[in-house]
Amino acid sequence: MTRPSPIVAPSILAADFARLADEVHVVEGEADWLHIDVMDNHFVPNLTIGLPVVQSLRPVTQLPFDVHLMIDEPRRWAPAYADAGAYNVTFHVEASENPVALAKDLRAAGAKAGLAIDRDTPIEPYLELLPSFDTLLVMTIKAGFGGQRFLPDLLEKVRKVRTARESGHLELRIEVDGGIAADTIEQAAEAGADAFVAGTAVYGADDPAAAIRHLRSLATGAGARP
Ligand code: DX5
Ligand code: ZN
Repeated sequence: MTRPSPIVAPSILAADFARLADEVHVVEGEADWLHIDVMDNHFVPNLTIGLPVVQSLRPVTQLPFDVHLMIDEPRRWAPAYADAGAYNVTFHVEASENPVALAKDLRAAGAKAGLAIDRDTPIEPYLELLPSFDTLLVMTIKAGFGGQRFLPDLLEKVRKVRTARESGHLELRIEVDGGIAADTIEQAAEAGADAFVAGTAVYGADDPAAAIRHLRSLATGAGARP
């Protein structure tokens, strides 16, 4: 079975917020998506950027926005990110009372719908929801902060979803987020991930564009192995 080509999504959480538009331009032409981490200091103990920043960034680039909402009450806010022009809007299952209804709202608003699973949440209870989603984001750290160490045990969730995807009619991007770098991306790709968020590994590199190319080539090579 041919796998979709890997998506590399640099996370601007690791960028210089004082030069945000410039930092976005640095990855243009190499990044597939731009990953934007929205945190509310309630769902996670950190506060980052919100809707006005996404609205301001939308006209400065053609890159598809991959918005990762780490917020309580996603139903209150998520459709506004779709309206702001996000390509994919991902919210956390732990924060949502009716994930399928919100996925419908997001698709109706013209965005892809993503479901995120945090470190301590099992995947099995949610497998049956996945046909309502375009993206599943499997955290490979505890959500909340960039620069954490990758947790390889969490790839077991990716393997389970890959099995479900291969055995059914599921069309789903499997995205991993947290600690993805040159020394971890291949194991994530081998497990079945095909979209890779990287903050520190891209924006902490001397040459972010070259870092993205390197990550993509590693993921492509590993994903092609049986
Ligand atoms: C953390 C965020 C991640 C973060 C990843 O909760 O969801 O997207 O930016 O950063 P790195 O790649 O540095 O682990
Ligand atoms: Zn993220």
